[in-house]
Amino acid sequence: TSAERGGYEHFMLKEIHEQPQVIRQALAGRIDEKGRVRLEQVFNEHVWTEIDRVNIIACGTAYHAGLMGKHLFEKILRLPTDVYHSSEFRYGDPVLSPRSLAIFVSQSGETADTLAALRLCKQRRIRTLGVVNVIGSSIARECDKTIFTQAGPEISVASTKAYTAQVIVLSLLALYIAQVQEMPGVRVDEAVAELTKLAERAETCMELEEQMKGIADMYRNMPLCFFLGRGADAHVALEGALKLKEIAYIPTQESPAGEMKHGPLALVQPGVVAMFGATEPDLRDKVVSNMQEVKARGGTIIAVTTDDDTVTSRASDDVIRVPTCVYPFMSALLSIIPMQFFAYHVARLNGCEIDQPRNLAKSVTVE
Ligand code: G6P
Repeated sequence: TSAERGGYEHFMLKEIHEQPQVIRQALAGRIDEKGRVRLEQVFNEHVWTEIDRVNIIACGTAYHAGLMGKHLFEKILRLPTDVYHSSEFRYGDPVLSPRSLAIFVSQSGETADTLAALRLCKQRRIRTLGVVNVIGSSIARECDKTIFTQAGPEISVASTKAYTAQVIVLSLLALYIAQVQEMPGVRVDEAVAELTKLAERAETCMELEEQMKGIADMYRNMPLCFFLGRGADAHVALEGALKLKEIAYIPTQESPAGEMKHGPLALVQPGVVAMFGATEPDLRDKVVSNMQEVKARGGTIIAVTTDDDTVTSRASDDVIRVPTCVYPFMSALLSIIPMQFFAYHVARLNGCEIDQPRNLAKSVTVE
């Protein structure tokens, strides 16, 4: 009913709008008044100094959150991290260091492939950590330890708020490990302060809905939509593309922007739209030259960038701005919000079944 949907037309839209609150909930009880991360209930402090590698294992949107986790673990901690699709990991005879940590990211905590991958790690006596939304779920129960994402129930098949909460929890974890290891050069207090500002910044992004609705209306009949970026923006691009294809059934082509000229560029012709994430300031010039390559072949460019960016507008047809954060990955995370609105409004304008897309299930508990 409409009441269950909080007055919104679909659960997906409600859940997109819940994200500022979801960020607050994911941080709740995990930051003390001195700005330190409190996750000591997860593992004893010495465990964190023993870990030599991290493997993040997940499916779908949770896998995309895992890619952001890798980005942070390697950037902040210089800790080698791999991300696996659960279905590949479980049948892939993975090489596992006895000192590694396996992190299972799952909204439902019931995805069959992820659960099987967890059981494989347990058999091999690898330390396991869940990042799970549903309390009492199988993955939460079977992991050595679990950090809950505290996002509240997610009803829409296409995941939105769970992704944001998963990335927040992985960020907190990276900062917690930096704090325990007293890593020189990592300003944990400063990063935590930025995280606590993120909810408010996500609120600002809700104002982008009108703009995205307009853009969705302009391009709703596009034959193909590229999602491109570099660094953290490349990871968000995968998630932006997944939203559009799963609920609006528009074919997408997603890859790091630098890979375009190795093949995907051949698909560009007039009518094709390219959504570029350009929130990473150090990579922006490179992204702009990729935009120009697409534009020169007749493609339409939508840029999602930060509010202080002065360079992408000359290469793009539409510019969407999210707040500038001190840590670029946070701006990249915010950039998923306009992409979620884009997918939602294209699907809505095209009369698609938004909360229950064809052929898909909320939780894939069979292989
Ligand atoms: C299904 C859902 C996705 C979800 C994926 C993994 O495909 O439709 O939204 O990302 O499963 O689910 P999990 O519950 O493990 O995060």
